[in-house]
Amino acid sequence: MSCDQPPVPIERLLSVAVDAAKAAGRVLSDYAKSGFTVERKNPINLVTDADHAAEQCIIDHIAQSFPGHGTLAEERGIDAARSSAYRWIIDPLDGTTNFAHRFPVYAVSIAVEYANELLLGVVYDPARDELFTAIAGRGAFMNGRSLAVSNTAPLDAALLVTGFAYDIRETSNNNLDHFARFSLKAQGVRRTGSAALDLCYVAAGRFDGFWEVKLSPWDMAAGVVILNEAGGRITDLCGNLHTIYQPELVASNGLIHVEMLGVIRENLRS
Ligand code: IPD
Ligand code: CA
Ligand code: CA
Repeated sequence: MSCDQPPVPIERLLSVAVDAAKAAGRVLSDYAKSGFTVERKNPINLVTDADHAAEQCIIDHIAQSFPGHGTLAEERGIDAARSSAYRWIIDPLDGTTNFAHRFPVYAVSIAVEYANELLLGVVYDPARDELFTAIAGRGAFMNGRSLAVSNTAPLDAALLVTGFAYDIRETSNNNLDHFARFSLKAQGVRRTGSAALDLCYVAAGRFDGFWEVKLSPWDMAAGVVILNEAGGRITDLCGNLHTIYQPELVASNGLIHVEMLGVIRENLRS
């Protein structure tokens, strides 16, 4: 049950989300400069003290401005003690493997839901000082500039991006089949290592399409709002309605979406 708080002005939510994302970005940049410790969740799933410190920084920002709001954050999980209709969905460091290897492609991702509806998303890339923002229904922006998806089509001319989950060695449902088939059908396929940036880059027209099969809500929530607001299309692998609480998604500029679904369908049938 959610307690009925009067809705907070959305601009105020956005402003706190932006402040929190930028503050967490500074935390990550500081750790990148001064050094960090790395632990393994499994042989290839890393977590650093920078992940934890950035997450704490975001949680502190939210608690200071909105002490009653709920949170779902990658490292600490769901804040079950709170029963607010507001839920902040947080990935403090999307691209941990990159960060740990000093490959500067990673981001802070923060989204806000109210009564299970995504209200806004913020993705901040501290290495490039690129801030992607969107409020549902009001467009998407990067550093204040309006974003729109590409008009690239067909799939043959498209640059795609994907990613792989940390159980890649343990299961055959590891996306390698889709990766192989898309590599033969698209102009190119990339793997950046940050799903949040992948979605923002489709929103910015830097990529034309993105798919993954095992994401978590914190990987996608902010990027989904941003891409939707930039005119993109997002579905599940079969073309049905997508929610951030299911692991798979196909995201595109809209123009190549049906072709992308066709490639996935061929694979699922074979
Ligand atoms: C990972 C990244 C990566 C995606 C993985 C995610 P993390 O998040 O978004 O691009 O392929 O599935 O788990 O662990 O760096 O926060
Ligand atoms: Ca992530
Ligand atoms: Ca993370």
